[in-house]
Amino acid sequence: MENLLLKPRTLEHVKVFWEKSQDQEIDKMFPFNRNTLDDAIKLYEESLKPNSRSFGKVISIDGKYIGDIWCYGIDEVDAKQAFISIVIFDKTYWGKGIGKHTIEQFCQLVFGIYDINKLCAFTYKDNKRSIAVLENAGFKKIEEFEEDDVLSCYYELLRL
Ligand SMILES: CC(C)(COP(=O)(O)OP(=O)(O)OC[C@H]1O[C@@H](n2cnc3c(N)ncnc32)[C@H](O)[C@@H]1OP(=O)(O)O)[C@@H](O)C(=O)NCCC(=O)NCCS
Repeated sequence: MENLLLKPRTLEHVKVFWEKSQDQEIDKMFPFNRNTLDDAIKLYEESLKPNSRSFGKVISIDGKYIGDIWCYGIDEVDAKQAFISIVIFDKTYWGKGIGKHTIEQFCQLVFGIYDINKLCAFTYKDNKRSIAVLENAGFKKIEEFEEDDVLSCYYELLRL
């Protein structure tokens, strides 16, 4: 997918992402922290510091900003792992293979930057798109669990 680019996040992206992610349909599929915009800006500023435990990129297609992909809980010392999340907030771009290509590119990037052995992901069990995207990228289901009456899945991708 030649027109897909992962670009650096700016403060302007953080504000747009926060607003777009208030969408009810997205909120139902994705276990967001219900942060205020100020919290989101603080987290972004933290992510820019050296040795930050989070790292993110924005997803750009044909020059248009359509979503974010990021990892958090980066631990290069003990667990040697990080957690990954993706949200394409512009729903007109769902189901076109962008999620699949984005996850593949981002995992490669993260394994290149950080000294970790695996990437981990949580998703709701009824989020079929998210599950298909993770499994297509090589993530394996490790466990299913119930939290607050919602069935969820935990996935891992091991460094090759
Ligand atoms: C999840 C998300 C990132 C996927 O991105 P996307 O660009 O829509 O995904 P893709 O087009 O690359 O792939 C979608 C896959 O889901 C499959 N799919 C779509 N609807 C499906 C359904 N109802 N049942 C089963 N599979 C389904 C498609 O067939 C495709 O798999 P394939 O490539 O094997 O055919 C995007 O939909 C999104 O941002 N959703 C809201 C936030 C979210 O749920 N984030 C994930 C939390 S971990």
